[in-house]
Amino acid sequence: MPGPSTVPRDPDWWKSAVVYQIYPRSFQDSDGDGIGDLRGIIERLDHLGELGVDVVWLSPIYPSPQADNGYDISDYEDVDPMFGSLADLHELIEGLHARGMKLVMDLVVNHTSDEHPWFRESRSSRDNPKRDWYWWRDPRPGHEPGTPGAEPSNWEASFSGPAWTFDEATGQYYLHLFSPAQPDLNWENPEVRAAVHAMMERWIERGVDGFRMDVINMISKDVAADGSLPDVPVSGGSALGDPSPHTVNGPRIHEFLHEMHERVLAGRRLLTVAEAPGATVTDARLYTDPARREVDMVFTFEHVNLDIAPGGSKWDLAPLRLTDLKANLSAWQEGLAEAGWNSLYWNNHDQPRIVSRWGSEGRHRVESAKSLATVLHLMRGTPYVYQGEEVGMTNAHFTQVGQYRDIESVNWAAEALERGIPEEMVVRSLAVKSRDNARTPVQWDASPQAGFTTGTPWLAVNPNHDTINAEAARRDPGSVFHHYRRLIELRHGLDVVVHGDYRLLLPDDEQVFAYVRAADGARLLVVANLSDEEAVVDLGPDGALLDGDLLLTTHPDAERGSGPEVRLAPWESRVHLTDAG
Ligand code: NOJ
Repeated sequence: MPGPSTVPRDPDWWKSAVVYQIYPRSFQDSDGDGIGDLRGIIERLDHLGELGVDVVWLSPIYPSPQADNGYDISDYEDVDPMFGSLADLHELIEGLHARGMKLVMDLVVNHTSDEHPWFRESRSSRDNPKRDWYWWRDPRPGHEPGTPGAEPSNWEASFSGPAWTFDEATGQYYLHLFSPAQPDLNWENPEVRAAVHAMMERWIERGVDGFRMDVINMISKDVAADGSLPDVPVSGGSALGDPSPHTVNGPRIHEFLHEMHERVLAGRRLLTVAEAPGATVTDARLYTDPARREVDMVFTFEHVNLDIAPGGSKWDLAPLRLTDLKANLSAWQEGLAEAGWNSLYWNNHDQPRIVSRWGSEGRHRVESAKSLATVLHLMRGTPYVYQGEEVGMTNAHFTQVGQYRDIESVNWAAEALERGIPEEMVVRSLAVKSRDNARTPVQWDASPQAGFTTGTPWLAVNPNHDTINAEAARRDPGSVFHHYRRLIELRHGLDVVVHGDYRLLLPDDEQVFAYVRAADGARLLVVANLSDEEAVVDLGPDGALLDGDLLLTTHPDAERGSGPEVRLAPWESRVHLTDAG
């Protein structure tokens, strides 16, 4: 069994770290079954070493029926044979530790799979000792059980349909905020909490270095005094509504996270990141203020929800305004400046590819991928790189509903078509927002199936792997890969990147994202044109910082000028360091 990695001297070691997320089924297949696996990851560790990341966050590899690609866990203690074995996982941990990297596991404990033994027991009878480990409620009085409208409340599940499913055998409904295959655990029950703590303890003993906590701010439900989970307002003629007022950042959430910290995490120097949909910067300060002893950082959703039409769902598309993005990210920088810490991300397995989303995928793919990375990575916080992002992978560009595999996309498309939304609109929303955009296999080389598998991949490989792939990117010194590598080096080498204050420049400019980081006499100027047109901006007194050392640029041959005015080609970005110390 691998031991823990060398205990870092700095308890806040994750402040100068960069995390790389692996979505195992799409990373590297080693046995030709078309699905990525642990041995595949072990084969690719040199890629991560060359990139220079410090931590790998592994999306779930536990036994699972795979209703939601592993976010439906049927056994917290083992590895799904599809991905390998516990021995493979130990080898992976050893391989990472030997290279000075750490492993963060996904902790999915808002819900289990409906095939988890805990749920099987819970559903077996009303008086089973585990009945209360989940949320069971009677049908609505006056309604025929199991018919529409008989659900205990009108909550809509995240993957469409009611958040309650009727169980004939015991005549009650169970709650699932995601799919019916993902019943919610009842954290009000201290036995549930103790079982989760004990399970976390075992993973720490196996050598893992932290946890990414799946929708953890949904574990405390806002239960009415009579034990009911109240109805929510509905709109647009729908029978179901968004339950989040009663399910996110609930009344006991801070108590539960603090208890977990005290029982499991305290004194251990792990990395903990709470996925927190619906959390504001004020909530995030409470979650991450070290004095409160909850978690190290949260994943906010605010910035990735900026391209949604007002009042709509993620499928209702709206263009992004750069001024909104700058205002939002800056509010988080400022809000967590004194207490707490940010996580910084564009991509993960739930978000479309950033270069297709807010970059410029055609002519400016490389520059736009680099400049978006620059503005994100040089903020204060811990950056997360999602597999393939470092080579500038794009969205899938599927053209038919039938090409999608993701439960959220498949369910939404069926429901939308049934509601009469024209197929071309459904296809367009999926092409822009589906989670499968991030889940196509990693493009390692230009060979058939991109070097991902020798078999048939579970989700189609993007045909653009003939030009966009890791092998080509590693060879090309001007590639997106080498730009990410350099950004990671800057975080490792410069205190101002890790700890410096943040000040936004040009808040009203719709083309340019510019800011200054400052610490102990060092000033770092980041200026990026995030548009397809040339930009000319006046940096005023901060223009003097353009005379600082040019640490990184997308356009090495560009005229530098003398400030305070700066002229930037489409998607050009520059990073200047002035060090008076
Ligand atoms: C968030 C995960 O990132 C997502 O992939 C999953 O579907 C839901 N939580 C439910 O576990």
